[in-house]
Amino acid sequence: MERESVLVIDFGGQYNQLIARRVRECGVYCEVKPYKTPIEEIKRFNPKGIIFTGGPNSVYLESSPTISKEIFELGVPVLGICYGCHLMAHILGGEVSACVTSEFGKTETVYDKSCVLFAQDDMPATAVSWMSHNDCISRLPDGFKSVAHTDNCPVAAMENPEKKLYAVQFHPEVNHTENGIKMIDSFVKQVCGCGGDWTMANYAKVAIEEIRAKVGDGKVLLALSGGVDSSVACALLSKAVGKQLTCVFVDHGFMRKNEGDEVEAAFKDWDVNFIRVNAADRFIGKLEGVSDPETKRKTIGEEFIRVFEEEARKIGKVDFLVQGTIYPDVIESGTGDAAVIKSHHNVGGLPDYVDFKEIIEPLRLLFKDEVRKLGTELGLADYLVWRQPFPGPGLAIRIIGEITRDKLKILQDADYIFREEIANAGLDRSINQYFAVLTDMRSVGVMGDGRTYDYTLALRGVTTTDFMTADFARIPYDVLEKASVRIVNEVDNINRICYDITSKPPATIEWE
Ligand code: XMP
Repeated sequence: MERESVLVIDFGGQYNQLIARRVRECGVYCEVKPYKTPIEEIKRFNPKGIIFTGGPNSVYLESSPTISKEIFELGVPVLGICYGCHLMAHILGGEVSACVTSEFGKTETVYDKSCVLFAQDDMPATAVSWMSHNDCISRLPDGFKSVAHTDNCPVAAMENPEKKLYAVQFHPEVNHTENGIKMIDSFVKQVCGCGGDWTMANYAKVAIEEIRAKVGDGKVLLALSGGVDSSVACALLSKAVGKQLTCVFVDHGFMRKNEGDEVEAAFKDWDVNFIRVNAADRFIGKLEGVSDPETKRKTIGEEFIRVFEEEARKIGKVDFLVQGTIYPDVIESGTGDAAVIKSHHNVGGLPDYVDFKEIIEPLRLLFKDEVRKLGTELGLADYLVWRQPFPGPGLAIRIIGEITRDKLKILQDADYIFREEIANAGLDRSINQYFAVLTDMRSVGVMGDGRTYDYTLALRGVTTTDFMTADFARIPYDVLEKASVRIVNEVDNINRICYDITSKPPATIEWE
């Protein structure tokens, strides 16, 4: 079945994923492809509309990213955003030059209501848009007219409705642009003629059929971590192929309090073969004397693979291995060569040691919020669907220095209380990640009439959309106080609690 879709062509803009997410929020499937994608491939993709992203360059420089003029001759509507807007003007014979006054941030913008992008009844003619540009269109290409302006920018948007070409200087995908999502909606529905058939119910139906066709009567193996992605993948595969699927849940012992049992309870009644491997002793044994964070990660990663491999061998030859790759990983893979800050051990990403024919990546096209919607659609419990990210090595990297069973128990109990208080305060969905860290430091305190010399616990809470940058969460003092009082009273060996008020960068989210 041909799916109606929009193509986002990436010119290096920082909001490329956001544009794609906004299009999908309008109920239209879309993909992001690099600007170097050959025109033949774009034609094969058969998009109903094309969106050019922003980018950091100036179109009039020789070395700047560009695209074949043919893209405007396919009869497919195009919307250019920021750099994409400049590029459309530049390629079609207009002129782009440095602004007299650059614009950054919220900017009052006057829209021409006769333009389809701004025509919805509830969109005022003057509203705030989000600008970020040093260049602007100084002469329109033939056939275009300006349909928005600001005090400093005479062409804040332009259109050539006959050719279905539109461009905006500002960023409609950013929340600060009032009605930005409606502009995108008008483009994809009114201009491109998309009906909006992209829903998770439809996705599930099609994905289940596709998985069945691919798997036939083969055997499928999935490493279940209890995280959102592997849980949703498990639910989808279970509906598609039932008992042909075996889920292996390796409990390395560094899960949060009760978490291993919760994962087991969530999946043992599903129509799958569920195997829980209790390997805590093995992992703790391997980590004896290890205090270096990277060594901890590598040791856990390697041991995890070994345990999984042993289980796979017992099952015998499997035909398919499931991976929980999601769309942001696909977009990001292969781009940039950033320094390795931490070698993430991702339980979804297993190397090729298991003897299998093919990999299935059933979430490969989905953003995180779509994965969550799909989980709900498939009947997964809320606490699994809304689970916050949890690192593969678990609490092992939240115990600073060497790990002991005692420290693990202290951290599990303290972390449990903190999470409970955050949930009691109704903050569990607005703070994107929150947890406790057991530091390796002890200090003097007084309890009752006696001196104590016990551990310092750190609490961490962050708000973030991408986990690449993060802000420390402004948790109200009374919530912190409740958590602090309860932890010190209910958990032995902690006599001091700090709240981490660093953002990322310069800190990272996890402490190790
Ligand atoms: P950092 O600490 O690098 O974390 O700011 C960013 C996000 O990644 C998670 N994280 C990990 N996830 N294996 C994982 O699967 C790891 O080793 C790992 N280390 C960090 C972290 O919880 C945060 O969400």
